[in-house]
Amino acid sequence: MILKKDRRPRKNPPPQAEGFFLPSKDLLGLRDLSEEKLTLVLKKAEEFKKLLQRKEKGDDLKGKRVINIFFEPSTRTRTSFEIAERNLSAEMTNITPSASSLTKGESLKDMIENLEAMKPDLLVIRHGASGAAQLIASYTKASVINGGDGSHEHPTQGLVDLFTVKEHLGQIQNKRVLIVGDIAYSRVARSNIYGFTKMGAKVTVVGPATLLPPGIEKLGVTVSTQFAKHIPEADVIMLLRIQKERQETLNFPSLAEYTRFFGLTRDLLPLIKKGTLIMHPGPINRGVEIDPEIADSKSADGPRIVILDQVANGIAVRMAVLSLWANQRVKK
Ligand code: CP
Repeated sequence: MILKKDRRPRKNPPPQAEGFFLPSKDLLGLRDLSEEKLTLVLKKAEEFKKLLQRKEKGDDLKGKRVINIFFEPSTRTRTSFEIAERNLSAEMTNITPSASSLTKGESLKDMIENLEAMKPDLLVIRHGASGAAQLIASYTKASVINGGDGSHEHPTQGLVDLFTVKEHLGQIQNKRVLIVGDIAYSRVARSNIYGFTKMGAKVTVVGPATLLPPGIEKLGVTVSTQFAKHIPEADVIMLLRIQKERQETLNFPSLAEYTRFFGLTRDLLPLIKKGTLIMHPGPINRGVEIDPEIADSKSADGPRIVILDQVANGIAVRMAVLSLWANQRVKK
């Protein structure tokens, strides 16, 4: 007997059924994603946030093998990827590089090619070297998701930040986003510059001249060394951690000096519009880039501190990335 095809739309069609083409098998940076693709990822994350609010889970990664390899420390990114993978029913494995055969002299290439023999579908990588995720992607057929590589990009953090701004302000287009501090060494800065400019925000980067990379204005941002001047117009103030681990010596006289000119201190509060979002990718250095009382403030009168909202949104956003990249079709 020939059964008639059921033509009713599926409740939750997998991404390929929607024609979701990706520019590459890997997510290495937001530089590679168009506004259309960014919008699709944010929409998917919204669906997952609603799913989690209903206390439900998904099976988008059922039968998919995911390996997390964090060569650098992480609290937020690693934990939220692990939770996201479990929420989507993945076969998940963590590798701690310091307890791997790298310590016996195995090369990175050999490590990845040996893991490749176990047929993973996704590798989530954090590494201290810029470009490491791209190199690893060249050794494997699995999709590589960059969880932060050196001072290059941290695409899922950028997506988390886009999602959080859209959630709180309703839209990203035309919002004024002030990114403050260590622009030169911050991978979060780079991903957010790509993400926010593509989504139509007006981005200003501000920091000590020594932490503003030459040519950064070519990415479509306004560049300044005067933090206080730009505060009144900002809809979003994004503070960055000084990446001391990537600077041989500090690129400014002292941390106290940095805080005086680029820290969000209490004397600056009257300059901030009511409702402006205060963001930080974490980990925060209390008393350096943000006053501890401001970081903990829950006051409804002043700016909105959404630092922990960013962390919470990390789970839904990473579920979206994992689901889309595991079920993708790549444009040839
Ligand atoms: N924002 C961020 O990447 O934090 P972790 O280093 O704790 O993952």
